[in-house]
Amino acid sequence: EAPLRTLADRADLRIGTAVDMAALADDSTYRRRTAREFNSVTAENVMKWEVVEPTRGTYDWSGADALVRFARDRGQAVRGHTLVWHSQLPGWLTSGVADGTIDAAELRGILRKHISTEVKRYKGKIYQWDVVNEVFEEDGSLRNSIWLQKLGPSYIADAFRWAHAADPKAKLFLNDYNVEGINAKSTAYYDLAKRLRAEGVPVQGFGVQGHLAIQYGFPGNVEGNLARFAALGMQTAFTEVDVRMILPSDPEKSAKQATYFRGLLDACLGTRSCKSFTVWGYTDKYSWVPGVFAGQGAATLLDEEFGAKPAYAAVREGLAAG
Ligand code: G3I
Repeated sequence: EAPLRTLADRADLRIGTAVDMAALADDSTYRRRTAREFNSVTAENVMKWEVVEPTRGTYDWSGADALVRFARDRGQAVRGHTLVWHSQLPGWLTSGVADGTIDAAELRGILRKHISTEVKRYKGKIYQWDVVNEVFEEDGSLRNSIWLQKLGPSYIADAFRWAHAADPKAKLFLNDYNVEGINAKSTAYYDLAKRLRAEGVPVQGFGVQGHLAIQYGFPGNVEGNLARFAALGMQTAFTEVDVRMILPSDPEKSAKQATYFRGLLDACLGTRSCKSFTVWGYTDKYSWVPGVFAGQGAATLLDEEFGAKPAYAAVREGLAAG
């Protein structure tokens, strides 16, 4: 049976997964399957700020470098994740802002340096960067992060300009969850992207994470949502797809889950500007879901023993048809 990446190549799509670097080091089945099924990878954690600069001015690129090397050796593209976020910030940064030893002007310089340093390090090796992650609330208002509080809303345009200067060829993305369909949050992104592009800010992609749950239903008008970003001249991507359920799983839930994966994939395949479809882990063995949503899980394509679920077959069939 042809692996997913072979079918995706034929469909001219990048099929990706988030990679857990500890699992990649320890688990040979995980390593083999990651290489076999995917032609794109994203660091689940090791490119985040708290990992790459745990102490101010002291960098740890070991995990990120290892992933980039793994991908290069296996002909996989790399999605960069993520440069500006309110979460997984280093302790020195959050405490410095909280106790006032880092003021707004210094913070802006720190952010600029972080973006320039990381993007330059992987210049030419990353095809899409999540530059700005999860900046809107569900109602479409800007999230009240340290970035908004200290720098004001202009930090978003600045981040894209700094990233573009560091690697002019990488496609630069906004990225968030609960923006699959048309709603207040995705419309806030649409309005922001439209305004930034009119101002000449280099924002080139809209990343739809795709963390779904079968108990909440399938989002409305996903293709229409992708199409309106395409009409702005932007790429789109599914960047973190998984479909959780209330445990235990059963055949009916697994079948429903399969249709959700297929629904997102088909929306991507049906939209020319949709360039990549990334799952946030592909085996339940390493999924983040049960640790965050108690009593939920079974959210990925393969079970904990790497056995294929109906969702895997659905993605295969979708790619084969696409
Ligand atoms: O690395 C430390 C380890 O040294 C320590 O022993 C352990 C004890 O808790 O924690 C480890 O760090 C954890 C890290 O994952 C690596 O496993 C963090 O506690 C944990 O919070 C972190 O969770 C990650 C989460 O982002 C943080 O917000 C998940 O793995 C990761 O899947 C998740 O990914 C996010 C995307 O970046 C953005 N979109 C939503 C998505 C799901 O939440």
